[in-house]
This record gives sequence, C-alpha cells and structure tokens, in this order.
Amino acid sequence: MPITHPSFGSLEPDRVIIFDTTLRDGEQSPGFSMNLEEKLRMAEMLAELGVDVIEAGFPIASPGDFEAVQAIARRFAKSGPVICGLARTAPADILRAAEAIRPAARKRIHTFVSTSPLHMRVKLRMEPEAVLELVTASVTLARNHAEDVEWSAEDGTRTEPDFLCRCVEAAIKAGATTINIPDTVGYALPADITRIFTMLRERVPGADQVILSTHNHNDLGLAVANSLAALQAGARQIECTINGIGERAGNAALEEAVMAIRTRHDALPLQNGIRTQKLLAASRLLAAITGFDVQPNKAIVGRNAFAHESGIHQDGVLKDASTYEIMTPESVGWTTNSLVLGKHSGRAAFRDRLKALGYELGENQLNDAFRRFKELADRKKVVYDEDIAALVDDEVHRHNDRVKLTALTVATGMGAKPMATLTLEVDGERRDGMATGDGAVDATFNAIRNAFPHDVALKLFAVQSVTGGTDAQARVTVRLEENGKLVDGQGADTDTIVASARAYVHALNKLLVKRERRAPPAAAAQ
Ligand code: KIV
Ligand code: ZN
Repeated sequence: MPITHPSFGSLEPDRVIIFDTTLRDGEQSPGFSMNLEEKLRMAEMLAELGVDVIEAGFPIASPGDFEAVQAIARRFAKSGPVICGLARTAPADILRAAEAIRPAARKRIHTFVSTSPLHMRVKLRMEPEAVLELVTASVTLARNHAEDVEWSAEDGTRTEPDFLCRCVEAAIKAGATTINIPDTVGYALPADITRIFTMLRERVPGADQVILSTHNHNDLGLAVANSLAALQAGARQIECTINGIGERAGNAALEEAVMAIRTRHDALPLQNGIRTQKLLAASRLLAAITGFDVQPNKAIVGRNAFAHESGIHQDGVLKDASTYEIMTPESVGWTTNSLVLGKHSGRAAFRDRLKALGYELGENQLNDAFRRFKELADRKKVVYDEDIAALVDDEVHRHNDRVKLTALTVATGMGAKPMATLTLEVDGERRDGMATGDGAVDATFNAIRNAFPHDVALKLFAVQSVTGGTDAQARVTVRLEENGKLVDGQGADTDTIVASARAYVHALNKLLVKRERRAPPAAAAQ
C-alpha cells in the first residue's frame, strides 16, 4: 500500500528515499570541513544527482553551520530536494534547526536521542523513562515547526529491543514521519539489521504509515551491506554520503548503495531518483573540495573500478564487456575517451572535455582553468583526463581561499643551501617571504611561514604522480595539525616544489576555515 508523506505525497511501496548526509555526518569528520561556498556547490551537485533529502548541517553547532544550512535552504526556496537540519532534543536545538531550514520549499527537522543502555547511562545519565519522555517532547516540538520530522534512535542497533519499540512508537505517536535506526558505531551485522527492521514492522503500531530509515557506519566495512539488508527488511530510506565519507570509517557510500540497487534489481526490486551518470562527477567534486581522493580500487568511482589489467579479462571485455563488467562505466559517468588535449586544443574543446568529466564551470572559472591548461600543455605533450581533473580541482575550487600563492622561486643545487622566495596574497594583501631550509620543500614551507606567520605541525607530506612520464604532474598532499585538528591540502603542478607549496597553502586555508568555527555549545543533555 502506498503511504502518504508530507514531503513526497503518495509513495509507492518500492520507492527508496535517498537521504544524503555528506554535508552533515560527512562534513563533521576530521579534515572534511567545507566553507559556505563549497557546501553550496556540493548541495547543487547533490540536487543535480537527484537525492531526495540533503541533510545540510547541524545548525546549533556553530554560527557557520547555521549560515550554511540557511544558505542551502534559500538556494532551494522554490523547489528542489528536502533540506534537513539536525537537532538534539533541547528546544534551543530544534528551534535553531527550524529557523535555518525555514526558507526551503521542502524542509525537514531531524531530531535524535541516544537509546542504548550504555549511551543513556554514560552519556546522558538518564533513566530510560526520562529518555522516552524526551522522545515525545522533542518530536512534538519539531512537529510544531515542520510537517516533515525525522526521529533517530542514536546507537539504535545496540538498544534493548523492547525499549527501541517503545521509543519508535512514542515518536510515531508524537508525529514523526520518518523513523531512523542508526548503527552509530558500525557494530551490526546484516542479520542484526534484518532482525531489527522486521521487529519494528511487526511490533510497532503505525510503523507501516511512516518511512523506516537506515543509517550505517562503516567500522566493520559493512555499512552498504547493512543498508541493503535494511531495504530487504522493509526500510525505505537510506542515509548515505558521497564517497562514503563520515565519522571514523565513514558512512554507507551513496554510489555503492545506489548501484547495488540498480545492478541487483532481481534481488532488490526497488526504485530511486538518482541520475547515476552523475555519480562520478559528484565524487570528484567532493574529492576536489575536501582534498581527499578516493582510493584507486574504490567501487564505482575509484580509478581502477573499471580497469581490466589481466590479459584474460581484457580479451573477454573486448569480446563482450558483460564477461567481466556487471555495470557499464558510462552508467556511472566514466567516459571511454581518456587521451585528450594538447597545446593546440582550443577553448571549446577544453570546455567539452570538462563537461564530459563532470565539471560545469562559470565563465571566470573556465578562463582561469583554460589559462592553466595552456601553461600545462606548453610543458607537457599530451594532457590526459587525470591532468585536467587535477588542474581544475587545484585552481578553480580554490578561488575563494583567503591565502593564495602568487609567485615562487627556489634556488637549489648540490652543496648549496636551498633558498625559497615567494609571494602570497592574504585577504587581498601582498605578503613576501624568504627562507632557507633543509631541501627545497623545507625552504618553501619556511618561506610560507615567513610571509604568513603561523604555528602548526606538519604531519604528512606525500608526492604522487598524476600520470606517467617525467613531464607528469605531481600531486602533493600535505597534512597539518593545529590544536588536535587535522586538515589535508592538495596541490598539483609539473613542478613538484610548486605543487608542494600549493598543497601547503590549501591545507592552511582549511585550517583558517576551522579556526573560524566555534565549538558546539553544551546546549542539551547529550
Ligand atoms: O550515527 C548516528 O547515530 C548519527 C545520528 C545523529 C543520526 O549520525
Ligand atoms: Zn552517523
């Protein structure tokens, strides 16, 4: 039987709601923080991808979080996905979330409380009956501010079954329209998830009138498997993130869950609204914004996900791709043409290639990227897709950075102390720096600190080649630490020292964003 939902109207029993929490559960994990403009760009990409709900943030956590959720809600003021704000049970949390999402055409408040014996005793220091009262009070308040309310049982998979049923029943009675059971610590096995959802459907009055939702963390590498088990047991919302980013080992990866549903329609005869050809573009945009690439063997969006190395496999694929491919690379956004442009290629060809790679740039961004492409093509005979992606990620996605590298010269040689001279632009103001060091990279980083004094620890410096050949671009990752907070920055260039400087400056910009954020107030008893 279809159910009627305030945001989606009549929902067929086979329709799965894709709830994306990249900007909330994903963004709060170490090194993945985004500024407002980056969050907006990501939200637009998620809307293009066709997600049903964007969890845009946790508005009470900081003024920055509130502004980002509100800006995303404004962006989708006329139409678009449901915009969701997270709140604990305290009235201040719920009112802040309600205020942030108000401009959106379709909106949801997501309120949660811990229900497991361990969390209630240690974290909340509350008796179960008091928690049950909080469930009713928080959902009731949320319903006064939004028709669409989701309630989550934090640490739900480690919650005592009878108590979980009572909490879910209370939330439904108070007006929740989606009930989410998180595997907060990534502990559950698929069989546990099956048991929990089957139990809720059998025992809780009204469970057939709400959307049951699953939210899985990947500590045992089971987040996607658990999400699929939940669907098979009757859940109709999956909470997931692009590239599986999220707390600790991450959340269920959206691209994996969606492609499992599509590829195994025989076992999961379900529908969703995702435009799968955009999956790669969404993955790349997130990697570019955060500076974290996915590993090469990552399902769906990793560099090797459709690469066939063994001769036997290559032979099979040439005869009939379905011998070794369970889905087509094109269905998730990969293009077959990988060797592309050179120094004679024009702006139109460059723009076409960017489009095929999933980048839609405005005129100014396109001009910046094209200028750097020409510089690169002068130094490199053949420019590959990977080069273009590295270049665009490096240049265009950083144009709002407070600190920019505008010039760099390094003098080095055998027996000579390397010396770096550089110019930064900090909030539009020119700053020059000069320093020596134990090697060219060390001298460069010292010169950055000389131009823009700051006190952070360098935790990682790694260099990778984007493609083959001595003219290949280097992609450098720099990890910095300040007050226990880690950030990763990336930079690419055919000159390894320039790439290193770009990576350091990128990480520095991310630290500046972090500094601007304030710690969440201890507003609620959670
Ligand atoms: O993992 C979790 O329990 C959460 C909740 C806030 C939904 O992210
Ligand atoms: Zn979570």
